[in-house]
Parts: sequence; structure tokens; C-alpha cells
Amino acid sequence: MGILEGRALSKRFGGRLAVDDVDFDLEDGEILGLIGPNGAGKTTLFNLISGAITPDSGAIAFEGKSVGGLAPHRLCRLGIARTFQKAKNFPGLSVYDNVLTSAQFGKKGRSDAAAREMTERTIEFVGLGPFLGKSVTDLPLAGQKRLEVARALATAPRVLLLDEVMAGLNPSEVGGAMELIAMINESGVAVIMIEHVMKAIMGVCGRVMVLHHGQKLAEGAPEDISRNPAVIEVYLGGRRA
Ligand SMILES: Nc1ncnc2c1ncn2[C@@H]1O[C@H](COP(=O)(O)OP(=O)(O)OP(=O)(O)O)[C@@H](O)[C@H]1O
Ligand SMILES: [Mg+2]
Repeated sequence: MGILEGRALSKRFGGRLAVDDVDFDLEDGEILGLIGPNGAGKTTLFNLISGAITPDSGAIAFEGKSVGGLAPHRLCRLGIARTFQKAKNFPGLSVYDNVLTSAQFGKKGRSDAAAREMTERTIEFVGLGPFLGKSVTDLPLAGQKRLEVARALATAPRVLLLDEVMAGLNPSEVGGAMELIAMINESGVAVIMIEHVMKAIMGVCGRVMVLHHGQKLAEGAPEDISRNPAVIEVYLGGRRA
């Protein structure tokens, strides 16, 4: 059984079906890539899964139980964490306090000492140790993206939704982010990653799902997706990944 399942999910904004009758499955322990052109509905699908918006129709199950309609904070405490395409770090707080906020929130009943321990461990894990006491505004873009990931991880998720954490990074930073995502996955977290950086999708994901105009266009192994004529047509602009 998948850890996360969506069935016949739809979401309309005015005249536009942003997500149109989408089914998806995430297996425990896998990394699923979510790709598609701008406006394909990728972030909207994350918004549906994370409870930021409610679907017009369809169902979502986490660990076999229906979670449709739950508020974002409840879904987060159950074990579904996300990052945002535009990082939502708290600019007035230090790197440490940004992550502490998540560690204190994530698990009911976690003691203050345990939350602090989790905060330090998570900051080290994502490679931000040298910036622990620094202000968010001191971080370069790659660091801000890592902090966004750290805030999600400090809630101790089972499923992590990553929305373009590599956007704007240089090739060496992309390589570092790929390593980090693999480490997160090896620690037992199932991941769905939205990414336009095809090299990263192909290098990290076990499976890829393609959205186009809100609909699922294709799904399969990365090497099959990169050879799929319909995907090449709409997304890769006639180029091979
Ligand atoms: N809150 C909203 N209100 C109205 N329309 C929205 C809203 N959120 C998304 N949309 C529209 O839904 C469609 C899908 O948007 P979405 O942000 O999910 O795309 P995306 O695949 O994440 O694109 P990108 O790669 O550019 O981030 C777009 O046409 C967008 O303008
Ligand atoms: Mg998006």
C-alpha cells in the first residue's frame, strides 16, 4: 500500500481546471518526481495534499486513512511536510530559531530539550551548521533553500513535498541539493519533488509523473519519461532530457 494516495483530485479556479481528475500514489520510501510546464498544476497539487486548499472533488489518503479536508497544521503533525516555491523562512529570526519553531510545532509533547536537540541535528544535517546563529538575511539563495528544507524536516515528516528547491541554484549547488534529498530519503522519508532541473529529476527520482494543463500526461521510470514523445512535445520542447 502506498503511504500517500490521491484519487480523482480536481481543483478549479474560475474557468480554469488547475488540477483535473488526477490520481497519484507515493510508495513508502520512494522519491517521486513531479514535472510539467509552468502552470501545469504542480504547486496546486501540493496545495491540495498539504491542506492549503481543499479539492472540489476527489480523495486523499495518508497511511491508509482519509485526510481530505484536514487543516495544514493537522496534516503536518500527522507527518506530511512541505516546502514553498518561494521560501517562507522567517526573515526576522536566526537560522536556529527558524528551525526551532518547526521542531517545537511538529510533534505534540516533544520537550523543549528534545526540540532543541532536533533543531541542532537538523541544521547540521542540511549543512547549515556554520550559519546556526546567523540571520536568514545572511544566507545565500542556496542556504535559504536549505533552511526551507530544514524547517520542514524538523517536524519529523514521513512524507516531504519539495517545491522547486533547486530553482536558481548553480550546477554545483544542484549537486549538493541532490545529495541532500538522497540523504533525506535514506533516513526513511518518502519524497515528492517538483523540479524543472531535469538532471536532478533524472538523477534522484525512482519514478516521475508529468502534469500538463492539470492532467496527468505520463508516469513512469525517468528514462522512459525522457523518451516519451508526448512529454518531449509539451515539456522538453523537442529536446531530450
Ligand atoms: N490561488 C489561485 N487562484 C487562482 N488561480 C490559481 C491559484 N493558484 C494557481 N492558480 C492557477 O492554476 C494554474 C496552475 O498553477 P500552479 O501554480 O499549480 O502551476 P505550477 O505547475 O506549479 O507552475 P510553475 O511551474 O510555474 O510553478 C495556473 O493557471 C495558475 O495561474
Ligand atoms: Mg509551481
